[in-house]
Amino acid sequence: MSAYDVIRKKRDGGVLDEDEMRAFVAGCLSGEVPDYQASAFLMAVVLRGMTPGETVALTRIMLESGRTLRFDALPGPLLDKHSTGGVGDKVSIPLLPIAASCGLFVPMISGRSLGHTGGTLDKLESIPGMTTALGEEAISRQVRSHGGCFAAQTADLVPADRMFYALRDAVAAVESVPLIVSSILSKKLAEGIAGVVIDVKCGRGAFMETIGGARELAGALEAAGEAMGVPVKTLVTAMDEPLGAAVGNAIEIEESIRVLEGRGPADVASLTVRLAAEMFVLGGLAPSVADGEAIARRAIDSGRALERFERIVAAQGGRLDPGAPRFGLPAAPVTRIVPAAERGYLSRLDARAVGEAVRGLGGGRLRREDAVDPAVGIVCRKKTGDAVAPGDPLFEIHAASAEGADAAARRLARATGVSAEPVPRARVVLDRTYPG
Ligand code: URA
Repeated sequence: MSAYDVIRKKRDGGVLDEDEMRAFVAGCLSGEVPDYQASAFLMAVVLRGMTPGETVALTRIMLESGRTLRFDALPGPLLDKHSTGGVGDKVSIPLLPIAASCGLFVPMISGRSLGHTGGTLDKLESIPGMTTALGEEAISRQVRSHGGCFAAQTADLVPADRMFYALRDAVAAVESVPLIVSSILSKKLAEGIAGVVIDVKCGRGAFMETIGGARELAGALEAAGEAMGVPVKTLVTAMDEPLGAAVGNAIEIEESIRVLEGRGPADVASLTVRLAAEMFVLGGLAPSVADGEAIARRAIDSGRALERFERIVAAQGGRLDPGAPRFGLPAAPVTRIVPAAERGYLSRLDARAVGEAVRGLGGGRLRREDAVDPAVGIVCRKKTGDAVAPGDPLFEIHAASAEGADAAARRLARATGVSAEPVPRARVVLDRTYPG
């Protein structure tokens, strides 16, 4: 079947068989199928969806488009965590050293910014000298010696996802259950892991805006994991407002370090501890989530997790200076405060609007070849439920220029709502979709 016929069949709601998809993906990778046909196929999947069987087949084809890592005889469970993507979601950064310092092995292969959401790799690469382009050898060495690494996909690891991910970002083809499932699971299964905990984001700033959509994605991730023989555990968590205060690259690293110092914002700190606990339960290191949380908190309180983070970063060439302002991370030349105009309680802090404003500042990508500015970003000085009075700082904009700061301030003007009545703080964990 030609590429054209595959696209047409999916466009018309047909069910593709594994051989048809395998030939199509192979053509995309060899260059025989041009980007515009690959993009059309991805959009047809967004619009028509896929059956569970097609989703599993696509995941397998993407996984088999490259090599798979192997870690023989590690002295502890090899697990990972992934997020479906959010604004200010820096959890992977403090979570990896917590997990690694407690006996798990975590080969964290992460992504770059996608749509209005940030990417773990872009954040980490704001650390001077830090490289995430580790080859297979280095990933294996680093996981064995330090319990984990932060790595980009290598050229040989799931090349189909690398290509599809960039095209989806460019053509608004991200919001699709089968594409998200196949993208995440092909990457995670290529790590050779024994299980994965996935944080399924739900709300205005997530790719799944409704609880129904997030549950569908969570269920599809778990079902595809089961079909492929790897336990996948999901947690549905809120993404209506940004997670934590910082949204940007270097400023999110700074906030991640604060989490490891035990001084991070409550929402991001508690979610990090919770997801670490889920990993400890999955790996058999804790009998319950409460026990797992206690293990994670001890790793933070003892300083072990921070020490492990510094070791992992240094092993990847990163230079963090604990004595320098902001740990020596790059700083933007322009800082601007956006003040509140009204008195009351913050009732809305729109994660998507904040994410788009950061992307507009240069902290994310509009085209796949764009470079990101590591220093720019937005610090949310108030969160939903906080009391505000006229003149109180709502946002702190870190921009490359005064014009950039003006544009971000205009975008942020529509990002908040204020209510005269007290507003409850937003819940972080919405749903755990599996028993136990
Ligand atoms: N993260 C991924 O790796 N892929 C997606 O499609 C969405 C989030």
